[in-house]
Amino acid sequence: MIIRNFIFWLSTKRSVTNSIARRGMQYGFARRFVAGETLGEALTASAELCAQGRHVSLNHLGENVSTEAAAREVCASYIQMTEEMHAKNLAGNISIKPTQLGLDLSTDLCQSLARDIARRAAALGRTIEMDMEASAYIDATLDIFESVQRESGNAGLAVQAYLHRTANDLQRLAPLKPKIRLVKGAYREPKSIALQKKSDVDANYKRLTTQLLEGAVQGFFFPAIASHDPMMVAHGKAEVGRLKLAQNKYEFQMIYGIRRDLQQEVHAAGHTLQVYVPFGTDWCPYFMRRLSERPANCWFVLRSLVAESGSRRAA
Ligand code: FDA
Repeated sequence: MIIRNFIFWLSTKRSVTNSIARRGMQYGFARRFVAGETLGEALTASAELCAQGRHVSLNHLGENVSTEAAAREVCASYIQMTEEMHAKNLAGNISIKPTQLGLDLSTDLCQSLARDIARRAAALGRTIEMDMEASAYIDATLDIFESVQRESGNAGLAVQAYLHRTANDLQRLAPLKPKIRLVKGAYREPKSIALQKKSDVDANYKRLTTQLLEGAVQGFFFPAIASHDPMMVAHGKAEVGRLKLAQNKYEFQMIYGIRRDLQQEVHAAGHTLQVYVPFGTDWCPYFMRRLSERPANCWFVLRSLVAESGSRRAA
């Protein structure tokens, strides 16, 4: 926890993030978790995953835009991503972040842009997913999600198992029959809002997995079990077996570059696996969150830097 907090603190220091941002792609360590800086690179990585039978969800990295023009640009880029995925016949969708679509500026703006993206995707017969960000945005995100889903019927939403409120939120969302991506939660939240101990989060994750999968039997949810934790994955598989849920009624999700061994195992066992594929130049906050989830990743970064500087000296 101390190391995790330290990495979170570092991620707020511009000198640190600028330095990482300058070196990450150049030295290659960011490529482990980020599919590239351009849409072209992300589509190439996605095509490789789809050729192996995986689905993908493309995310154009970035959050907390500060102008309406920037939010509109992000909206246009998601529509372009959907169209290019469609043209290339890639299985999967896009994942949008509300603060990237101007949620800090206006809920109405964010809602209208999210609806534009969902409408275009629906016209192509495709879906979209919405990430869940820090707790200050949850109420607005739920309202926006409901409005998008009511209009287009093709939206999915991430919910976080560390929050005390999530079981109730699922009851609220059930009538909309949505796709729900269950994650543990990636932000630092106070104990009044979120469970703090890993064992408590894990126990709640399992309870919510069961709630979602039982809901899927009744036709309320399409659950996406999004975790790299072998215990969560095993629980999901066991519940799918117990409930005799058909393979097209749920899926597993993991992030590009993380636990590729487990990704292979889940796919080989015949479950649908969707890989979250982030790309773009604004990758530093996302990258720092991945480091904080597993401090061992810091050694991987340091090793890359040392190896690279050694080979540069040798060259
Ligand atoms: P946990 O953190 O307990 O890790 C279990 C094991 O997985 C570790 O022991 C390690 O082996 C491996 N692992 C986990 N993270 C790793 C990393 N960074 N590098 C290497 N190995 C790692 N969060 C959120 O708040 N909003 C969202 O919208 C999303 N969206 C999202 C989509 C998808 C597809 C996934 C898989 C995750 C998210 N998340 C998210 C992130 C999520 O909340 C959580 O922070 C991470 O998934 C880590 O939690 P795990 O469930 O993997 O378990």
